[in-house]
Amino acid sequence: MTIYVDKNLFHLQTRNSSYLFQIMANGELGQLYYGRRIHHKSAYHNLAQREQHDAMASWTLDQPDFQPEMLKQEYASLGKGDFRYPAYQVQAPDGSRISELVYQDYQITQGKQRLPHLPSTFANDPQTAQTLSITLMDAVTHLQVQLNYTIFPKFDVLIRSAAFKNQGIHSLMLKQAASCQLDLPDAHYDWLQFSGAWARECQLQRHHLHCGQQATSSLRGASSHQANPAMILARPDTTENTGEAIGFNLIYSGNFANQIDVDQFQTTRIITGINPEDFTWQLKPQSSFQTPEAVISYTNQGLNNLSQQLGAFYQQHLVNQHFAQQLRPILINNWEATYFDFDETKLLKICRQAQKIGIELFVLDDGWFGQRDDDTTSLGDWFVNQRKFPHGIDHFAQKVHDLGLQFGLWFEPEMISQASRLYQQHPDWVVGAPHRHLTPSRNQFVLDMTRTDVVQYLYEQISAIIEQTHLDYIKWDMNRNLTEIYSTQLPPVQQQEFNHRYILGVYHLYELLTTKFPQVLFESCASGGGRFDLGMMYYAPQAWVSDNTDAITRLKIQYGTSYNYPLAMMGAHISAVPNDQTGRITPLATRAAVAYFGDLGYELDITKLSSPELQTLKKQIQFYKKYRQIFQFGKFYRLLSPFAGDPNLVSWQVVNSQQTVAIVGYYRILNEPNPPYRRLYLQGLDPNRIYQINDLEENFYGDELMHAGLFIPRLLHSTMHVEQTADFNAQLFLLRALS
Ligand code: DGJ
Repeated sequence: MTIYVDKNLFHLQTRNSSYLFQIMANGELGQLYYGRRIHHKSAYHNLAQREQHDAMASWTLDQPDFQPEMLKQEYASLGKGDFRYPAYQVQAPDGSRISELVYQDYQITQGKQRLPHLPSTFANDPQTAQTLSITLMDAVTHLQVQLNYTIFPKFDVLIRSAAFKNQGIHSLMLKQAASCQLDLPDAHYDWLQFSGAWARECQLQRHHLHCGQQATSSLRGASSHQANPAMILARPDTTENTGEAIGFNLIYSGNFANQIDVDQFQTTRIITGINPEDFTWQLKPQSSFQTPEAVISYTNQGLNNLSQQLGAFYQQHLVNQHFAQQLRPILINNWEATYFDFDETKLLKICRQAQKIGIELFVLDDGWFGQRDDDTTSLGDWFVNQRKFPHGIDHFAQKVHDLGLQFGLWFEPEMISQASRLYQQHPDWVVGAPHRHLTPSRNQFVLDMTRTDVVQYLYEQISAIIEQTHLDYIKWDMNRNLTEIYSTQLPPVQQQEFNHRYILGVYHLYELLTTKFPQVLFESCASGGGRFDLGMMYYAPQAWVSDNTDAITRLKIQYGTSYNYPLAMMGAHISAVPNDQTGRITPLATRAAVAYFGDLGYELDITKLSSPELQTLKKQIQFYKKYRQIFQFGKFYRLLSPFAGDPNLVSWQVVNSQQTVAIVGYYRILNEPNPPYRRLYLQGLDPNRIYQINDLEENFYGDELMHAGLFIPRLLHSTMHVEQTADFNAQLFLLRALS
């Protein structure tokens, strides 16, 4: 692993990638190259080459060919002849927005420190990472900017962030502070974005880049269902298994913007970070601002490889290490089983049944606190609902623990209902602009998480419940977006800091709780995938992918999510039919065959199941436990996409690290009359090993299954305990190496 510094040149080399930039003639930084690894040499004039254009702004009269518009820049400013969107903007006390970040010095350190107050990557073993910090300074305002680059060579990952410090004597206004800018020399890329909606998250869309701006962003106060902060640029001929791609993501859960700008010369500028819309930050003399980190990763081996290296990277360098490799418990959640209609007796019946069939964790969802019997009351009142639990929540928790189950509870810490004791005591804690209407959403309002007293209150309330119940797990929900944002605690000049300060407050509460209770497993949730991002993943190793539990719509949601997040992060539950979100009736086996590929859970009233159904669940759980390591931490391959090709067929696969066991899920959504012959080409097998598939008589070499494919007969006879159904059919193929 190497970071080379040669006079004006910086070359960051990972196993398969090179990232090069230089100090330009005006002292600012210019990008040279990001892509497949190349040899190091002391200068790359070829990569810096540009042509002089008439009638274009030049930096000085005597350097007519130094034209900012023609340059690939590293962290561009506004208003100096570049004319593309900048990476940062700062306003001086005289109102001027011009700045010039000139190179000062650099520092290389082994390893990677965590960022204070923000979720971030880290290297417990300093040998696994190297960090380059470049200091830049604007001579007029004395604004100092440190651009930080960390390489994690094994994963071909580059982490970027920027730290601003006001070294002057006057306050500055930071109006934009991107985490990363990357100027690429051409626009021959497809853009993979993961947009969606509630119950329809992470729907992959792949477009060729076009001239001008294209962007995804959020102004909701959360990363959002509508646009995930992850995106990928892939060459048009890149497939799942071949070709170049660059993955981008942000370790951030608030308003973000991913901008792509294709200019007149077909070069591409990417800027990612906090959304500059409705953002400013007052930088008082000697104060600092740190951006969230951006994750960038390169592959020349296709999208599956990109997802795999990112997933493995997050487990080692982002997730709470206590849970990084820990198998996730099989849970049962009472939400779709009971909604708000439950009491201790009803739940204990579910728990007893759950224990009998091998479930490991009972999660008590919304409605256990205050007076909450529907979604109109009690958020903020984190004390037990006496009517439902007359002997207290600790007594109920003890009963659950006595059964040998772990116990988990739902919280929605950031929210408040007007009908609550907390609201009577602290109406001033609600987010809202003075003299303005307050917009409710799901009958609830938002607590001002920028206030330390609010965070402290929540910390004490939640801590008390964790201690009382010896809690093993928390589902942290967040069911509305932010409106009328304003904090009575902030002076007018700082009101546009609110969105970022809000999410810092959320992180602070997470930090306090996860530090005090490191053994508690957190699952993040925001009406499903409304805040499914790397910022959350730092604290909560798993997340509820979607409120949609219908197996068929889950195919797209889980497939789309898998591009940027590992299976161990993805909560996937088997629920009842007709499905509550779609009304669809799918076979139990199909629901299982989809939910296995993630952190398996159940979300239905198992006391209402027939005895054969319960036996089926028991078998599912035994099967999942046997292969849980592979389902949660194996290498995941996407084989047939619901977003391309024939959307009626979907397939994916997991393989263990020794390549001795693989499990393939193959899903045919609607039955087809007289379908064509089909072969499924598997991935990630050892070409020289012989594999047995289910109970088929014939055995197969790995190379045969990968290159010649597995013939999928019209009627699949040999499958894993899967019912044969016409529509919504799922097959599982279990491959075991015989040699
Ligand atoms: C939204 C979540 O996504 C659901 O799973 C459930 O917890 C409800 N909120 C409870 O209000």
